Amino acid sequence: MPSPRLGLSTRCVHAGDTRDPHGALHSPMYDHSTFGFATTSDVLDVVEGRTSGALYTRYGLNPTITALEAKLADLEGAEAALAFSSGMAAEAAVFLAHARAGDHVVCVGDVYGGTFELLGQDLPRLGITTTFLLASEAGRIGEVLRPETRMVFFETPTNPLIDLIDIAAAKAAAGPDVLVVVDNTFASPVNQTPLAHGADLVVHSATKYLGGHSDLTAGAVMGPADLVRPVWAARKNLGTVIAPPVAHLLQRSLRTLAVRVRAQNATATAVAGFLDAHPRVARALHPSLAAGEARSIRERQMTGDGGMVSFVLDAGTAGTSAVVDRLRLFAIAPSLGGVESLVTQPVTTTHHDLDEADRARRGIAGGLVRLSIGLEEPEDLITDLAQALEP
Ligand SMILES: Cc1ncc(COP(=O)(O)O)c(C=O)c1O
Repeated sequence: MPSPRLGLSTRCVHAGDTRDPHGALHSPMYDHSTFGFATTSDVLDVVEGRTSGALYTRYGLNPTITALEAKLADLEGAEAALAFSSGMAAEAAVFLAHARAGDHVVCVGDVYGGTFELLGQDLPRLGITTTFLLASEAGRIGEVLRPETRMVFFETPTNPLIDLIDIAAAKAAAGPDVLVVVDNTFASPVNQTPLAHGADLVVHSATKYLGGHSDLTAGAVMGPADLVRPVWAARKNLGTVIAPPVAHLLQRSLRTLAVRVRAQNATATAVAGFLDAHPRVARALHPSLAAGEARSIRERQMTGDGGMVSFVLDAGTAGTSAVVDRLRLFAIAPSLGGVESLVTQPVTTTHHDLDEADRARRGIAGGLVRLSIGLEEPEDLITDLAQALEP
């Protein structure tokens, strides 16, 4: 259960941990596929839900996984959470659990490429269709709803343009019968808890900030128990539960989540300020720089600005690639949220396959660069960017 009276760092360290009979300070790792019972009536109690307990790992009924899920739920202020083998596994289970043939989804803003393919290519084969709106069209959610619309899905901040989408306004437009599902990967629960702003479910690629060290792949879903229960059934039959060793590693990462993300917020704000003032940078994009309506959304729903910074150079694709290639501390890699800083040029990676017209419509130019800020000293990252940006 959520424990809102305790501060975030305290909950990162302690939420969900169970005392082990030998006195180990944290939940031990049970890398077992199945668990034994003294009597058939004991096993029936677990199968029929009268008692909670370990049963079978693919069901998620494994103490290492349930301890992790208690922490994940607590951090998002949710009644329940489920851990998955990847972020895409978490999303797929949500769509399969809450939509069926004939249903309709509204997807707002740029979403992760895999999500885009799942909604645009895989789900239509099952009879589930999606209307895609740009982030700037978030005000049109109400207009595109149909009687068969089941879900509104979006990320905020978005990737790679760091647009902010108003969660409470999206829920108001969706109404009580349409689920608002927010991918909170970019913000992490340190900076934003969408359920508190009206979202019905939250999904995460735990591969990113929750894992935080670029050494695990996992996903999560958080929300009220009645909406999470069907997702549990989908996970059970798809077989996409998190593996116990990964659950144990993720549980360890979560103990430092608040410290890591707060440091990344501060460094990213310093880097964004540097880029914003740099003569070669046409635009720097970070919630700390948000103005107008975006600033009000930032103030209403975020408590920190996050570690993702994008910027646009007054240069073409080749000139921008040359700047990226000169960076020494930033690794050119497609992920984010780890302790090490990463850089990507979206037209050479995530948005490579979009045609020119679609890129232009989405504002993805050759000069766009995305940074994931790690835990290096801010001055070292700024010095590295300064040398790479020298004409
Ligand atoms: C915002 C977002 N959501 C979901 C995913 C998918 O997560 P995973 O790679 O863990 O399956 C990603 C991966 O990059 C992502 O960036």
